Amino acid sequence: MSDWWNSAVIYEVYPRSFSDADGDGIGDLRGIIERMPYLESLGIDGIWLTPFQRSPQVDQGYDISDYCDVDPLFGSLADFDELLAAAHSHGIRVLVDIVPNHTSIENPLFEAAVAAAPGSIERDMFHFSEGRGLNSESPPNNWVSVFGGPAWHRVFPESTVDTQWYLHLFSPGQPDWNWENPAVAAYFEAVIRFWFDRGVDGIRVDVAHGLYKAAGMPDSPTVPAVIDGLRSNPLAMDQEPVHEVYRSWRRIAEEYSPARLLVGEVNLEPERSARYTRADELHQTFAFAFAKLGWDGKQWSAVGQQLEAVRRTVGSAPSWALENHDIVRTVTRFGGGALGQQRARAAVVALLGLPGTVYIYQGQELGLPEVDVPVARRADPMWFNGGVSRDGARVPLPWDAASAGSHGFSPVPGAEPWLPVPPAWGDFSIERQELDETSALALFRQASALRAQFEVSSSSSASLALDWSIDGNGRVIARRSDGLRVVIAMGESAVELPAGAVVLSSEALVDGKLPANAAAWVAAE
Ligand code: NOJ
Repeated sequence: MSDWWNSAVIYEVYPRSFSDADGDGIGDLRGIIERMPYLESLGIDGIWLTPFQRSPQVDQGYDISDYCDVDPLFGSLADFDELLAAAHSHGIRVLVDIVPNHTSIENPLFEAAVAAAPGSIERDMFHFSEGRGLNSESPPNNWVSVFGGPAWHRVFPESTVDTQWYLHLFSPGQPDWNWENPAVAAYFEAVIRFWFDRGVDGIRVDVAHGLYKAAGMPDSPTVPAVIDGLRSNPLAMDQEPVHEVYRSWRRIAEEYSPARLLVGEVNLEPERSARYTRADELHQTFAFAFAKLGWDGKQWSAVGQQLEAVRRTVGSAPSWALENHDIVRTVTRFGGGALGQQRARAAVVALLGLPGTVYIYQGQELGLPEVDVPVARRADPMWFNGGVSRDGARVPLPWDAASAGSHGFSPVPGAEPWLPVPPAWGDFSIERQELDETSALALFRQASALRAQFEVSSSSSASLALDWSIDGNGRVIARRSDGLRVVIAMGESAVELPAGAVVLSSEALVDGKLPANAAAWVAAE
Protein backbone atom coordinates (compact mmCIF):
# COMPACT_ATOMS: atom_id res chain seq x y z
CA MET A 1 0.00 0.00 0.00
CA SER A 2 1.42 3.38 -0.85
CA ASP A 3 1.77 5.98 1.87
CA TRP A 4 1.27 3.30 4.51
CA TRP A 5 3.15 5.57 6.88
CA ASN A 6 0.47 8.25 7.04
CA SER A 7 -1.43 6.32 9.67
CA ALA A 8 1.34 4.06 11.01
CA VAL A 9 2.66 3.37 14.49
CA ILE A 10 6.43 3.22 14.21
CA TYR A 11 8.47 1.90 17.12
CA GLU A 12 11.99 3.17 17.66
CA VAL A 13 14.42 0.36 18.38
CA TYR A 14 17.66 1.54 19.97
CA PRO A 15 19.68 -1.60 19.17
CA ARG A 16 22.31 -1.15 21.92
CA SER A 17 19.58 -1.43 24.53
CA PHE A 18 16.90 -3.63 22.99
CA SER A 19 18.13 -7.21 23.39
CA ASP A 20 21.61 -8.70 23.63
CA ALA A 21 21.77 -12.13 21.95
CA ASP A 22 25.54 -12.66 22.11
CA GLY A 23 25.94 -11.77 25.78
CA ASP A 24 28.50 -8.97 25.46
CA GLY A 25 26.26 -6.55 27.34
CA ILE A 26 25.34 -4.60 24.18
CA GLY A 27 22.17 -5.25 22.21
CA ASP A 28 22.52 -6.57 18.67
CA LEU A 29 20.65 -7.36 15.46
CA ARG A 30 20.21 -11.01 16.41
CA GLY A 31 18.58 -9.87 19.64
CA ILE A 32 16.06 -7.93 17.56
CA ILE A 33 15.44 -10.93 15.28
CA GLU A 34 14.77 -13.15 18.29
CA ARG A 35 12.33 -10.65 19.77
CA MET A 36 10.33 -10.21 16.56
CA PRO A 37 7.24 -11.90 18.06
CA TYR A 38 7.27 -9.30 20.84
CA LEU A 39 7.45 -6.48 18.28
CA GLU A 40 4.56 -8.01 16.37
CA SER A 41 2.55 -8.31 19.59
CA LEU A 42 2.69 -4.53 19.96
CA GLY A 43 0.52 -4.08 16.88
CA ILE A 44 3.03 -1.70 15.30
CA ASP A 45 3.46 -1.10 11.57
CA GLY A 46 7.18 -0.44 11.48
CA ILE A 47 10.41 -0.11 13.40
CA TRP A 48 13.04 2.60 13.11
CA LEU A 49 16.49 1.26 13.92
CA THR A 50 18.94 3.86 15.25
CA PRO A 51 22.46 3.47 13.81
CA PHE A 52 23.94 -0.01 13.72
CA GLN A 53 26.34 0.82 10.88
CA ARG A 54 30.09 0.59 11.31
CA SER A 55 31.19 3.13 13.88
CA PRO A 56 33.76 3.68 16.63
CA GLN A 57 30.73 4.43 18.86
CA VAL A 58 31.90 7.83 20.08
CA ASP A 59 28.27 9.01 19.97
CA GLN A 60 26.64 5.58 20.39
CA GLY A 61 26.66 5.00 16.65
CA TYR A 62 25.83 8.50 15.38
CA ASP A 63 29.46 8.69 14.25
CA ILE A 64 29.35 6.39 11.22
CA SER A 65 32.59 5.34 9.55
CA ASP A 66 31.01 3.05 6.92
CA TYR A 67 27.42 3.82 6.01
CA CYS A 68 27.02 0.59 4.05
CA ASP A 69 28.15 -1.97 6.58
CA VAL A 70 27.04 -3.27 9.97
CA ASP A 71 29.28 -2.69 12.98
CA PRO A 72 30.60 -6.04 14.27
CA LEU A 73 29.26 -5.01 17.67
CA PHE A 74 25.75 -5.49 16.28
CA GLY A 75 26.33 -8.29 13.75
CA SER A 76 26.81 -8.43 10.00
CA LEU A 77 25.05 -7.44 6.80
CA ALA A 78 23.78 -11.01 6.59
CA ASP A 79 22.18 -10.52 10.03
CA PHE A 80 20.62 -7.31 8.79
CA ASP A 81 19.13 -9.09 5.77
CA GLU A 82 17.75 -11.73 8.08
CA LEU A 83 16.29 -9.07 10.36
CA LEU A 84 14.63 -7.34 7.42
CA ALA A 85 13.14 -10.57 6.12
CA ALA A 86 11.95 -11.54 9.61
CA ALA A 87 10.37 -8.14 10.16
CA HIS A 88 8.60 -8.25 6.81
CA SER A 89 7.31 -11.74 7.49
CA HIS A 90 5.81 -10.37 10.75
CA GLY A 91 4.19 -7.50 8.85
CA ILE A 92 6.65 -4.93 10.19
CA ARG A 93 8.39 -2.38 7.98
CA VAL A 94 11.95 -1.26 8.70
CA LEU A 95 13.49 2.21 8.69
CA VAL A 96 17.24 2.78 9.03
CA ASP A 97 18.97 5.89 10.31
CA ILE A 98 21.13 7.92 7.91
CA VAL A 99 23.49 10.57 9.32
CA PRO A 100 24.30 13.05 6.53
CA ASN A 101 25.43 16.07 8.56
CA HIS A 102 28.59 14.44 9.89
CA THR A 103 30.56 11.24 9.80
CA SER A 104 33.28 9.63 11.93
CA ILE A 105 36.95 10.48 12.10
CA GLU A 106 37.41 6.81 11.14
CA ASN A 107 35.62 7.22 7.82
CA PRO A 108 38.34 6.42 5.22
CA LEU A 109 37.41 9.64 3.39
CA PHE A 110 38.15 11.67 6.50
CA GLU A 111 41.34 9.73 7.15
CA ALA A 112 42.40 10.50 3.57
CA ALA A 113 41.56 14.16 4.12
CA VAL A 114 43.72 14.30 7.24
CA ALA A 115 46.57 12.62 5.35
CA ALA A 116 46.23 15.00 2.40
CA ALA A 117 47.51 18.57 2.27
CA PRO A 118 45.52 21.71 3.08
CA GLY A 119 43.66 22.80 -0.04
CA SER A 120 43.42 19.24 -1.43
CA ILE A 121 40.28 17.75 -2.94
CA GLU A 122 40.29 15.25 -0.08
CA ARG A 123 39.98 18.04 2.48
CA ASP A 124 37.24 19.70 0.45
CA MET A 125 34.87 16.87 1.40
CA PHE A 126 34.82 18.40 4.92
CA HIS A 127 35.16 21.88 6.42
CA PHE A 128 38.87 22.40 6.92
CA SER A 129 39.98 25.94 7.54
CA GLU A 130 42.89 27.97 8.85
CA GLY A 131 42.32 29.33 12.32
CA ARG A 132 42.61 32.85 13.59
CA GLY A 133 45.70 34.46 15.03
CA LEU A 134 49.21 34.66 13.66
CA ASN A 135 49.76 30.94 14.03
CA SER A 136 46.18 29.77 13.50
CA GLU A 137 45.99 29.23 17.24
CA SER A 138 42.29 30.10 17.60
CA PRO A 139 39.37 28.35 15.88
CA PRO A 140 38.18 29.85 12.56
CA ASN A 141 34.99 31.19 14.15
CA ASN A 142 33.19 31.29 17.51
CA TRP A 143 30.74 28.44 16.89
CA VAL A 144 30.16 26.04 19.75
CA SER A 145 29.49 22.34 19.44
CA VAL A 146 26.07 20.94 20.36
CA PHE A 147 27.90 18.78 22.89
CA GLY A 148 29.78 21.74 24.39
CA GLY A 149 33.15 23.37 23.67
CA PRO A 150 34.33 24.81 20.36
CA ALA A 151 32.93 23.34 17.14
CA TRP A 152 36.45 23.18 15.69
CA HIS A 153 39.33 20.82 16.26
CA ARG A 154 42.92 21.42 15.15
CA VAL A 155 44.08 18.54 12.93
CA PHE A 156 47.70 18.53 14.12
CA PRO A 157 47.88 20.75 17.21
CA GLU A 158 51.69 20.60 17.34
CA SER A 159 52.37 21.23 13.66
CA THR A 160 53.62 24.56 12.39
CA VAL A 161 53.14 23.42 8.78
CA ASP A 162 49.61 22.05 8.76
CA THR A 163 47.68 24.45 10.95
CA GLN A 164 44.15 23.72 9.78
CA TRP A 165 41.07 23.05 11.91
CA TYR A 166 38.01 21.00 10.98
CA LEU A 167 34.39 21.70 11.85
CA HIS A 168 32.37 19.32 14.05
CA LEU A 169 28.96 20.53 15.20
CA PHE A 170 28.84 17.52 17.53
CA SER A 171 31.85 15.77 19.12
CA PRO A 172 35.38 16.08 17.68
CA GLY A 173 34.88 12.45 16.57
CA GLN A 174 32.10 13.62 14.18
CA PRO A 175 33.49 15.87 11.41
CA ASP A 176 30.85 17.73 9.37
CA TRP A 177 30.54 17.01 5.66
CA ASN A 178 30.95 19.87 3.21
CA TRP A 179 27.67 19.79 1.32
CA GLU A 180 28.88 22.59 -0.99
CA ASN A 181 30.96 19.86 -2.61
CA PRO A 182 28.82 17.87 -5.12
CA ALA A 183 30.88 14.75 -4.34
CA VAL A 184 29.20 14.66 -0.91
CA ALA A 185 25.72 14.62 -2.44
CA ALA A 186 26.80 11.83 -4.80
CA TYR A 187 28.22 9.83 -1.87
CA PHE A 188 24.91 10.01 0.02
CA GLU A 189 22.83 9.18 -3.00
CA ALA A 190 24.79 5.95 -3.22
CA VAL A 191 24.25 5.37 0.52
CA ILE A 192 20.49 5.74 0.43
CA ARG A 193 20.22 3.64 -2.71
CA PHE A 194 22.29 0.94 -0.99
CA TRP A 195 19.68 0.62 1.78
CA PHE A 196 16.66 1.05 -0.48
CA ASP A 197 18.04 -1.63 -2.82
CA ARG A 198 18.43 -3.93 0.17
CA GLY A 199 14.74 -3.57 0.79
CA VAL A 200 14.42 -1.14 3.68
CA ASP A 201 11.11 0.69 3.76
CA GLY A 202 12.42 4.10 4.63
CA ILE A 203 15.05 6.21 6.31
CA ARG A 204 15.17 8.52 9.28
CA VAL A 205 17.43 11.47 8.52
CA ASP A 206 19.58 12.60 11.44
CA VAL A 207 19.94 16.39 11.97
CA ALA A 208 18.08 16.88 8.71
CA HIS A 209 18.05 20.66 9.18
CA GLY A 210 21.86 20.68 9.34
CA LEU A 211 24.10 19.85 6.34
CA TYR A 212 24.59 23.35 4.90
CA LYS A 213 26.23 26.21 6.80
CA ALA A 214 25.83 29.95 6.19
CA ALA A 215 28.14 31.17 3.41
CA GLY A 216 31.57 32.06 4.72
CA MET A 217 30.70 30.66 8.16
CA PRO A 218 30.83 34.04 9.96
CA ASP A 219 30.91 34.36 13.74
CA SER A 220 27.61 33.69 15.44
CA PRO A 221 26.20 36.93 16.90
CA THR A 222 25.53 35.15 20.20
CA VAL A 223 27.39 32.38 21.94
CA PRO A 224 24.90 30.45 24.10
CA ALA A 225 25.49 29.75 27.76
CA VAL A 226 23.13 26.79 27.62
CA ILE A 227 23.55 24.12 24.96
CA ASP A 228 20.32 23.88 22.99
CA GLY A 229 21.14 21.77 19.97
CA LEU A 230 21.68 23.58 16.73
CA ARG A 231 18.99 26.04 17.72
CA SER A 232 21.72 28.06 19.39
CA ASN A 233 23.28 28.84 16.05
CA PRO A 234 21.05 29.76 13.10
CA LEU A 235 24.16 30.01 10.91
CA ALA A 236 24.80 26.29 11.27
CA MET A 237 21.34 25.07 10.29
CA ASP A 238 18.20 25.51 8.19
CA GLN A 239 20.01 26.94 5.16
CA GLU A 240 18.01 27.11 1.95
CA PRO A 241 20.10 24.70 -0.21
CA VAL A 242 19.29 21.80 2.13
CA HIS A 243 15.81 21.59 0.62
CA GLU A 244 17.28 20.66 -2.75
CA VAL A 245 18.92 17.62 -1.11
CA TYR A 246 15.54 16.34 0.07
CA ARG A 247 13.93 17.05 -3.29
CA SER A 248 16.52 14.78 -4.89
CA TRP A 249 16.11 12.13 -2.16
CA ARG A 250 12.35 12.24 -2.62
CA ARG A 251 12.79 11.58 -6.32
CA ILE A 252 14.97 8.58 -5.44
CA ALA A 253 12.51 7.32 -2.80
CA GLU A 254 9.78 7.43 -5.44
CA GLU A 255 11.78 5.47 -7.97
CA TYR A 256 11.15 2.45 -5.75
CA SER A 257 8.02 0.41 -5.56
CA PRO A 258 6.56 0.75 -3.05
CA ALA A 259 7.98 4.22 -2.47
CA ARG A 260 10.29 4.58 0.50
CA LEU A 261 9.56 6.80 3.50
CA LEU A 262 11.75 9.80 4.39
CA VAL A 263 11.36 11.12 7.94
CA GLY A 264 13.55 13.93 9.15
CA GLU A 265 14.84 14.98 12.52
CA VAL A 266 14.17 18.69 12.08
CA ASN A 267 14.44 20.38 15.43
CA LEU A 268 13.01 23.77 14.49
CA GLU A 269 9.94 25.85 15.22
CA PRO A 270 6.86 24.32 13.54
CA GLU A 271 6.72 27.00 10.81
CA ARG A 272 10.30 26.30 9.71
CA SER A 273 10.02 22.56 10.18
CA ALA A 274 6.93 22.38 7.95
CA ARG A 275 8.96 23.63 5.00
CA TYR A 276 10.82 20.29 5.02
CA THR A 277 7.58 18.43 4.33
CA ARG A 278 6.48 20.34 1.27
CA ALA A 279 5.02 18.03 -1.35
CA ASP A 280 8.34 17.22 -3.04
CA GLU A 281 10.59 16.97 0.06
CA LEU A 282 10.58 14.73 3.15
CA HIS A 283 7.32 12.93 3.91
CA GLN A 284 7.49 13.71 7.61
CA THR A 285 9.40 15.41 10.38
CA PHE A 286 8.99 14.58 14.05
CA ALA A 287 6.86 17.18 15.83
CA PHE A 288 9.51 18.34 18.29
CA ALA A 289 7.38 21.19 19.60
CA PHE A 290 5.09 18.45 20.89
CA ALA A 291 7.77 15.94 21.87
CA LYS A 292 9.21 18.28 24.46
CA LEU A 293 5.99 19.19 26.27
CA GLY A 294 5.49 18.65 29.97
CA TRP A 295 2.09 17.78 31.50
CA ASP A 296 0.50 21.09 30.69
CA GLY A 297 -2.92 21.22 29.06
CA LYS A 298 -2.64 24.80 27.85
CA GLN A 299 0.57 23.95 26.05
CA TRP A 300 -0.76 20.71 24.56
CA SER A 301 -3.76 22.48 23.20
CA ALA A 302 -1.81 25.51 21.91
CA VAL A 303 1.00 23.47 20.35
CA GLY A 304 -1.48 20.95 18.92
CA GLN A 305 -3.44 23.77 17.33
CA GLN A 306 -0.29 25.41 15.99
CA LEU A 307 0.99 22.14 14.48
CA GLU A 308 -2.37 21.52 12.86
CA ALA A 309 -2.46 24.99 11.28
CA VAL A 310 1.10 24.70 10.05
CA ARG A 311 0.84 21.21 8.59
CA ARG A 312 -2.22 22.20 6.63
CA THR A 313 -0.20 24.89 4.84
CA VAL A 314 1.94 22.12 3.31
CA GLY A 315 -0.67 19.35 3.20
CA SER A 316 1.34 16.76 5.10
CA ALA A 317 -0.10 14.27 7.60
CA PRO A 318 0.83 14.85 11.27
CA SER A 319 3.56 12.78 12.90
CA TRP A 320 3.64 12.57 16.67
CA ALA A 321 6.29 11.59 19.20
CA LEU A 322 6.72 12.15 22.92
CA GLU A 323 9.89 10.18 23.52
CA ASN A 324 13.11 9.20 21.82
CA HIS A 325 16.64 8.26 22.87
CA ASP A 326 17.62 11.94 23.34
CA ILE A 327 14.68 13.08 25.48
CA VAL A 328 13.86 12.55 29.16
CA ARG A 329 11.26 9.75 29.52
CA THR A 330 7.66 10.97 29.83
CA VAL A 331 7.06 9.21 33.17
CA THR A 332 9.74 11.41 34.70
CA ARG A 333 8.96 14.54 32.67
CA PHE A 334 5.31 14.33 33.69
CA GLY A 335 6.03 14.24 37.42
CA GLY A 336 7.69 10.89 38.17
CA GLY A 337 6.48 8.09 40.44
CA ALA A 338 2.90 6.80 40.32
CA LEU A 339 1.62 10.16 39.06
CA GLY A 340 4.14 10.20 36.23
CA GLN A 341 3.21 6.61 35.34
CA GLN A 342 -0.45 7.49 35.19
CA ARG A 343 0.15 10.53 33.01
CA ALA A 344 2.52 8.67 30.69
CA ARG A 345 -0.16 5.99 30.18
CA ALA A 346 -2.68 8.69 29.43
CA ALA A 347 -0.27 10.28 26.96
CA VAL A 348 0.17 6.99 25.10
CA VAL A 349 -3.60 6.55 24.87
CA ALA A 350 -3.93 10.15 23.64
CA LEU A 351 -1.17 9.78 21.07
CA LEU A 352 -2.56 6.57 19.63
CA GLY A 353 -5.94 8.23 19.20
CA LEU A 354 -4.57 10.98 16.99
CA PRO A 355 -4.60 10.77 13.21
CA GLY A 356 -1.29 10.58 11.38
CA THR A 357 1.89 8.71 12.28
CA VAL A 358 2.83 7.93 15.86
CA TYR A 359 6.43 7.25 16.88
CA ILE A 360 6.89 5.27 20.08
CA TYR A 361 10.29 4.81 21.72
CA GLN A 362 11.21 1.37 23.06
CA GLY A 363 10.26 1.12 26.72
CA GLN A 364 7.55 3.77 26.40
CA GLU A 365 5.06 0.90 26.11
CA LEU A 366 6.34 -0.33 29.49
CA GLY A 367 6.13 3.03 31.22
CA LEU A 368 9.88 3.07 31.89
CA PRO A 369 11.06 6.09 33.86
CA GLU A 370 14.27 8.03 33.27
CA VAL A 371 17.19 6.50 35.19
CA ASP A 372 19.77 8.51 37.09
CA VAL A 373 22.70 6.52 35.70
CA PRO A 374 25.65 6.53 38.12
CA VAL A 375 28.19 9.10 36.98
CA ALA A 376 30.93 6.48 36.63
CA ARG A 377 28.80 4.49 34.19
CA ARG A 378 27.63 7.33 31.95
CA ALA A 379 28.59 6.93 28.32
CA ASP A 380 27.03 9.87 26.47
CA PRO A 381 29.57 12.23 24.86
CA MET A 382 27.20 15.07 25.67
CA TRP A 383 27.81 14.32 29.34
CA PHE A 384 31.58 14.48 29.01
CA ASN A 385 31.64 17.66 26.93
CA GLY A 386 28.48 19.47 27.91
CA GLY A 387 27.43 18.13 31.33
CA VAL A 388 24.08 16.79 30.09
CA SER A 389 23.55 13.03 30.01
CA ARG A 390 21.02 11.30 27.75
CA ASP A 391 21.97 7.89 29.18
CA GLY A 392 18.95 7.83 31.48
CA ALA A 393 16.60 7.24 28.53
CA ARG A 394 18.86 4.59 27.01
CA VAL A 395 18.97 1.94 29.74
CA PRO A 396 18.49 -1.63 28.40
CA LEU A 397 14.96 -3.06 28.34
CA PRO A 398 14.04 -5.38 31.23
CA TRP A 399 12.73 -8.60 29.68
CA ASP A 400 12.30 -10.85 32.68
CA ALA A 401 11.36 -10.37 36.27
CA ALA A 402 13.24 -13.21 37.87
CA SER A 403 16.87 -12.76 37.02
CA ALA A 404 18.89 -10.02 38.60
CA GLY A 405 21.58 -8.11 36.72
CA SER A 406 20.35 -7.44 33.22
CA HIS A 407 16.75 -8.70 33.74
CA GLY A 408 17.00 -10.89 30.67
CA PHE A 409 18.47 -8.23 28.40
CA SER A 410 21.57 -10.44 28.08
CA PRO A 411 21.02 -14.20 28.05
CA VAL A 412 24.33 -14.84 29.77
CA PRO A 413 24.11 -14.88 33.58
CA GLY A 414 26.38 -12.23 35.05
CA ALA A 415 26.78 -10.32 31.76
CA GLU A 416 27.21 -6.65 32.54
CA PRO A 417 24.90 -4.47 30.41
CA TRP A 418 26.58 -1.41 28.89
CA LEU A 419 24.38 0.76 31.14
CA PRO A 420 23.25 -0.74 34.46
CA VAL A 421 19.61 -1.85 34.67
CA PRO A 422 18.16 -0.75 38.04
CA PRO A 423 17.54 -3.72 40.37
CA ALA A 424 13.87 -2.78 40.77
CA TRP A 425 13.23 -2.96 37.03
CA GLY A 426 11.93 -6.51 37.34
CA ASP A 427 8.65 -4.76 38.16
CA PHE A 428 8.69 -3.08 34.75
CA SER A 429 9.73 -6.24 32.92
CA ILE A 430 7.88 -7.49 29.91
CA GLU A 431 7.48 -10.86 31.62
CA ARG A 432 5.70 -9.29 34.59
CA GLN A 433 3.61 -6.88 32.54
CA GLU A 434 2.41 -9.64 30.24
CA LEU A 435 0.85 -11.32 33.28
CA ASP A 436 -0.92 -8.18 34.43
CA GLU A 437 -3.93 -6.99 32.47
CA THR A 438 -3.74 -3.57 34.12
CA SER A 439 -0.13 -2.99 33.06
CA ALA A 440 1.16 -0.22 30.81
CA LEU A 441 2.02 -2.88 28.24
CA ALA A 442 -1.51 -4.32 28.26
CA LEU A 443 -2.93 -0.83 27.79
CA PHE A 444 -0.54 -0.12 24.95
CA ARG A 445 -1.52 -3.33 23.14
CA GLN A 446 -5.18 -2.60 23.63
CA ALA A 447 -4.80 0.96 22.32
CA SER A 448 -2.80 -0.03 19.25
CA ALA A 449 -5.31 -2.76 18.38
CA LEU A 450 -8.23 -0.35 18.77
CA ARG A 451 -6.41 2.29 16.78
CA ALA A 452 -6.50 -0.04 13.80
CA GLN A 453 -10.30 -0.01 14.02
CA PHE A 454 -10.56 3.75 14.22
CA GLU A 455 -7.80 4.47 11.81
CA VAL A 456 -8.56 6.67 8.88
CA SER A 457 -7.26 5.34 5.62
CA SER A 458 -3.72 6.45 4.92
CA SER A 459 -4.77 8.47 1.94
CA SER A 460 -7.24 10.59 3.86
CA SER A 461 -5.20 10.98 7.01
CA ALA A 462 -3.60 14.18 5.68
CA SER A 463 -6.99 15.72 4.97
CA LEU A 464 -8.51 14.77 8.33
CA ALA A 465 -8.73 17.90 10.46
CA LEU A 466 -7.88 17.98 14.15
CA ASP A 467 -9.18 20.67 16.43
CA TRP A 468 -7.62 21.17 19.86
CA SER A 469 -9.29 22.95 22.74
CA ILE A 470 -9.01 23.27 26.52
CA ASP A 471 -11.60 24.30 29.08
CA GLY A 472 -11.26 25.85 32.53
CA ASN A 473 -10.94 22.41 34.19
CA GLY A 474 -7.88 21.48 32.15
CA ARG A 475 -9.94 19.19 29.92
CA VAL A 476 -8.09 18.99 26.61
CA ILE A 477 -10.04 17.71 23.63
CA ALA A 478 -8.50 16.85 20.27
CA ARG A 479 -11.51 16.48 17.98
CA ARG A 480 -11.02 14.62 14.73
CA SER A 481 -13.22 15.59 11.83
CA ASP A 482 -14.32 11.95 11.54
CA GLY A 483 -15.93 12.32 14.96
CA LEU A 484 -13.50 10.57 17.32
CA ARG A 485 -12.50 12.77 20.23
CA VAL A 486 -9.41 12.30 22.33
CA VAL A 487 -10.01 13.70 25.81
CA ILE A 488 -7.19 14.29 28.28
CA ALA A 489 -7.86 15.33 31.88
CA MET A 490 -4.84 17.54 32.48
CA GLY A 491 -6.25 19.58 35.36
CA GLU A 492 -6.71 18.83 39.05
CA SER A 493 -10.09 17.16 38.88
CA ALA A 494 -12.16 14.58 37.02
CA VAL A 495 -13.87 15.87 33.86
CA GLU A 496 -17.12 15.19 32.04
CA LEU A 497 -16.82 13.32 28.79
CA PRO A 498 -18.52 14.61 25.66
CA ALA A 499 -21.55 12.61 24.48
CA GLY A 500 -20.69 9.43 22.62
CA ALA A 501 -19.35 5.93 23.16
CA VAL A 502 -16.22 5.62 25.28
CA VAL A 503 -13.93 3.39 23.24
CA LEU A 504 -10.94 3.35 25.53
CA SER A 505 -9.72 5.06 28.68
CA SER A 506 -6.38 4.93 30.46
CA GLU A 507 -8.12 4.74 33.88
CA ALA A 508 -11.53 3.44 34.88
CA LEU A 509 -14.22 6.14 34.77
CA VAL A 510 -15.56 7.26 38.14
CA ASP A 511 -19.28 8.09 38.16
CA GLY A 512 -19.09 8.45 34.39
CA LYS A 513 -16.28 10.99 34.64
CA LEU A 514 -12.71 10.74 33.42
CA PRO A 515 -10.37 10.98 36.44
CA ALA A 516 -7.61 13.59 36.49
CA ASN A 517 -4.40 12.49 34.72
CA ALA A 518 -6.24 10.12 32.41
CA ALA A 519 -7.17 10.08 28.72
CA ALA A 520 -10.04 8.55 26.76
CA TRP A 521 -11.33 8.16 23.23
CA VAL A 522 -14.96 9.00 22.64
CA ALA A 523 -16.57 8.01 19.36
CA ALA A 524 -19.38 10.00 17.79
CA GLU A 525 -22.78 8.41 18.35
C1 NOJ B 1 20.47 13.30 16.84
C2 NOJ B 1 20.54 11.94 17.44
O1 NOJ B 1 19.25 11.52 17.79
C3 NOJ B 1 21.47 12.05 18.63
O2 NOJ B 1 21.44 10.91 19.42
C4 NOJ B 1 22.86 12.36 18.11
O3 NOJ B 1 23.74 12.56 19.19
C5 NOJ B 1 22.85 13.62 17.24
N1 NOJ B 1 21.76 13.65 16.32
C6 NOJ B 1 24.13 13.70 16.44
O4 NOJ B 1 24.13 12.74 15.43
